Amino acid sequence: MKQNRIIKNVRIVTPLGHEARKGEAMRHLHTVEHGIIVIVDGVIEYAGEEKACPAELLALHTYEYTDGEGRVALPGFVDSHTHLVFGGYRPDEFSWRLKGDTYMSIMERGGGIQSTVNATRSCTADDMAAKARWFLRRMSEMGVTTVEAKSGYGLDLDTERRQLEAIRQLADDPSTGLNVVSTFLGAHAVPTEYKGRTSEYVDYLIAEMLPAFRDMARCCDVFCEKNVFEIEDSRRLLKAARDMGYSLKLHADEIVTLGGAELAAELGALSADHLLHVSDEGVRLMAEAGVVATLLPLTAFALKEPYAPARKFIEAGGAVALATDLNPGSCFSGSIPLTIALACIYMQMSIEETVTALTLNGAAALGMAAECGSLEKGKRGDVAILEFDNINYLPYYVGMNCVRTTIHAGRVVYDAPRPE
Ligand code: NIG
Ligand code: FE
Repeated sequence: MKQNRIIKNVRIVTPLGHEARKGEAMRHLHTVEHGIIVIVDGVIEYAGEEKACPAELLALHTYEYTDGEGRVALPGFVDSHTHLVFGGYRPDEFSWRLKGDTYMSIMERGGGIQSTVNATRSCTADDMAAKARWFLRRMSEMGVTTVEAKSGYGLDLDTERRQLEAIRQLADDPSTGLNVVSTFLGAHAVPTEYKGRTSEYVDYLIAEMLPAFRDMARCCDVFCEKNVFEIEDSRRLLKAARDMGYSLKLHADEIVTLGGAELAAELGALSADHLLHVSDEGVRLMAEAGVVATLLPLTAFALKEPYAPARKFIEAGGAVALATDLNPGSCFSGSIPLTIALACIYMQMSIEETVTALTLNGAAALGMAAECGSLEKGKRGDVAILEFDNINYLPYYVGMNCVRTTIHAGRVVYDAPRPE
């Protein structure tokens, strides 16, 4: 559902460009006082000063109107790493972690991802899509207009397919009000039926699943981790995926320093994600190869792990994206406000860098920087209007939602209730 819309009387704040902004350039946001955004058939025709807007454009179409009342308009946020389609929940594991259990020890006992796999295997695609819709609604209230969703809780052909079908339902349903992009993560864990036979499971992924899902997923991802899929198995899987035309992503160096970042650089992945324990060499190689570092501070927070070294990536001239990692295990949160606060307070990212990381660089981490992630002509009309006239409120209003109105392809998909 695309619309013609004029958003007037806004302070436009946006990164500019059609690819990831790197290093020092992450800080540069383009600001327009007294701005207007003209969206025609879901696409931005003009974003700039109101007085410079061509009069013929305003006369050419009929429009819906939104008055921004002088508030900030940002590009809609891009949450480029989530696992939002799954069966069941795991609150008990969270309580065990509070008492000292670790994420990996729970996984090694057959809990963790495998326990969500067991629950997901008994769900239909409709069940999963209905549940995910609830999360998507919350996300669009926080200004998210593009979201990536991974499979990876099936680990067999049929269930992975149902997960990808659920993601497709969400992507095709205009009422969700977000652009949903799918990633195949069959290599999320070694399923119990393949215990001790990791490389046979990788053979199965390459022979059966990758070809079957070629039209259902844009990217292929792997949990590249010690005792899960180590470097050689990850390389083999990702090379096969790349040969079939998938873009590549990796869960890399999350728990230990394994060399996932180096592998991402070697293979020209779109992004490597997590990176809590990345080596200095990994940082350098990723920056050199133009691989986006997608950092997930909510996961570090929830697991009580040190935060990823955002400054090292930026100082090495790399591109950083931020995402939530919403999932039922390591991080059951899709909070954009808390992501922003943690990035600014604990990862020493500036507010401007944080905005770039959640918009244009998130889009680049999905290979979509030409379509969305900034407010400029030719991009999709995805806009988050804040309650405030200044982006400094984003981390200052800690963990609280600053978004007043979310617009996707020109259509208002969320409008905060106004006090009487
Ligand atoms: O990104 N680390 C692997 N995958 C997810 C967690 C998935 C789960 O615990 O269910 C992550 O943190
Ligand atoms: Fe993840």
